Amino acid sequence: MTGNEFASEMEEKVAALLEAARPLSEAWANKVWPRQQLIEVLKHYAYAEWRSCLHNAKHFLNTPMQQWDLKLGLAEQCHEEASHYEIERRKLLELGVDFDPAAYTPVPSWKRYFDNQENAPTALEKIAAENYGGEPKAVLFFKLAANGADPHLRDIAAPQIEDEEEHHEFGRAILEKYATTPEVQQRLRDISALQQKLSVDAMRELNERLGLPAPRTS
Ligand SMILES: [Fe+2]
Ligand SMILES: [Fe+2]
Repeated sequence: MTGNEFASEMEEKVAALLEAARPLSEAWANKVWPRQQLIEVLKHYAYAEWRSCLHNAKHFLNTPMQQWDLKLGLAEQCHEEASHYEIERRKLLELGVDFDPAAYTPVPSWKRYFDNQENAPTALEKIAAENYGGEPKAVLFFKLAANGADPHLRDIAAPQIEDEEEHHEFGRAILEKYATTPEVQQRLRDISALQQKLSVDAMRELNERLGLPAPRTS
């Protein structure tokens, strides 16, 4: 299978992920959140941006100069994830919370999700895990939330959509170029599938932490 065909296969899997995630994302976006629950949701997302910024930086350092296009994209993504973290950090401050992501305890699947990306053997696995595994779900939620019921979520969601869409497009270009052997493709399939499952599990776990009823999942 060519890199192009492989990227198309991955796009189909992303579409399935979005269907699985849609009921939870819609339930979150169509709600005006009580203050304490809203703070928990913002912490969950702020932690994600912080972890993403750190592991993109790590993969930037570990990627060889021969893959400069990949290295450059990781640097840009690191900067953008840091700016998303800042959007959420400021919103938390507005709500009276001085957030420390290093002291925060995420739900288990969310920690595992970011650990997998940080510890991915190469940046290519990181791309399959994050840019294909989880970021399309972020785009779905931010698009729903940008037009959703809660004014605080509307504030933080709208400015992030374009960057997250670009991270996915960047991922596609990288997979087309570098995911060209069956061995590499299988490694990327495996990590992306695991991350897709963890990203939906994490939403369910946060739902439980918030004491919300479980929405339908299919
Ligand atoms: Fe982000
Ligand atoms: Fe992103």
